[in-house]
Amino acid sequence: MDQSDGIVLVGCGNMGFALLEGWVGRAGIAADRIHVIEPMDQLRNRAAAAGATVYADAGELPQALRPRAVIVAVKPQVIGAVLGAYRRFSGKAVFISIAAGVPIARFEATLGETAIVRAMPNMPASIGLGVIAAFANVHTDDGQMAEVTGLLGAVGNVHWLNEETLVDAATAISGSGPAYLFHFMECLEEAAIAVGLPAATAQALSSQTVCGAAALASASAFSPADLRRQVTSPNGTTAAALDIFTAEPSLGDLVKRAAIAAHRRALELAVG
Ligand SMILES: NC(=O)c1ccc[n+]([C@@H]2O[C@H](COP(=O)([O-])OP(=O)(O)OC[C@H]3O[C@@H](n4cnc5c(N)ncnc54)[C@H](OP(=O)(O)O)[C@@H]3O)[C@@H](O)[C@H]2O)c1
Repeated sequence: MDQSDGIVLVGCGNMGFALLEGWVGRAGIAADRIHVIEPMDQLRNRAAAAGATVYADAGELPQALRPRAVIVAVKPQVIGAVLGAYRRFSGKAVFISIAAGVPIARFEATLGETAIVRAMPNMPASIGLGVIAAFANVHTDDGQMAEVTGLLGAVGNVHWLNEETLVDAATAISGSGPAYLFHFMECLEEAAIAVGLPAATAQALSSQTVCGAAALASASAFSPADLRRQVTSPNGTTAAALDIFTAEPSLGDLVKRAAIAAHRRALELAVG
């Protein structure tokens, strides 16, 4: 096999596999050009079944391999132990880290002056509907940024940030955000039961309402605020509910406090 121009994927858990599926299924990248290092048999076998070239350990990678990108998708706690094995690709490949809270400086300490992108994807990436906030260090050139936009764009929309600290802010919004919406679905389901709906109906109505509203907001030319006004007649049922959401403490205040707490925690984890 030609060993130039492939992709190295370090770690093929939840997010690593979502990327692999996106590259093969949506970006049309030849699966065998994706070199996956994954110590867990089950996850390695899953990657192999998707067509990737797999290894249990970085030491098994062919010496002649010249990847254009190295994606680091392991848990933040193991980055320090894992990274050294990929130093030989430094200065040639662009490194992409999706590890929450690990600053680029930590990568540069091991890899030296090389192109490194720190990215924050989110869970809907697993169905190609993610959003990815990304920041590139000064050693990343335009061609490499286009390359990264293509690779991460296979699982969602890529938004470039011009300051690294904003990755932690994005973590509090789009990284953790799906869980906020899942929690809202849970709350709506509980409310549905409280107003008398049977459990199965409560679950179906609440989850489809959130999915349908999100799809509509995404497809519509109107802003969420416009859409809200369109479905709220004065003195009607929706207005009665929104009066509760906007009374103290308002839903807006709670969401802001929640995001600030997530941001603070992202910063704590980054220095920890
Ligand atoms: N999942 C998300 O929604 C999400 C969102 C944003 C960012 N992230 C970030 O993405 C990263 C991965 O998260 P995840 O949810 O995909 O975690 P995960 O499912 O635990 O996947 C990480 C995988 O890497 C493997 N691994 C450990 N050491 C390795 C090594 N030396 N070489 C190669 N692979 C190794 C792990 O194996 P073991 O289990 O044996 O350790 C595991 O299978 C994290 O840094 C996280 O912060 C995830």
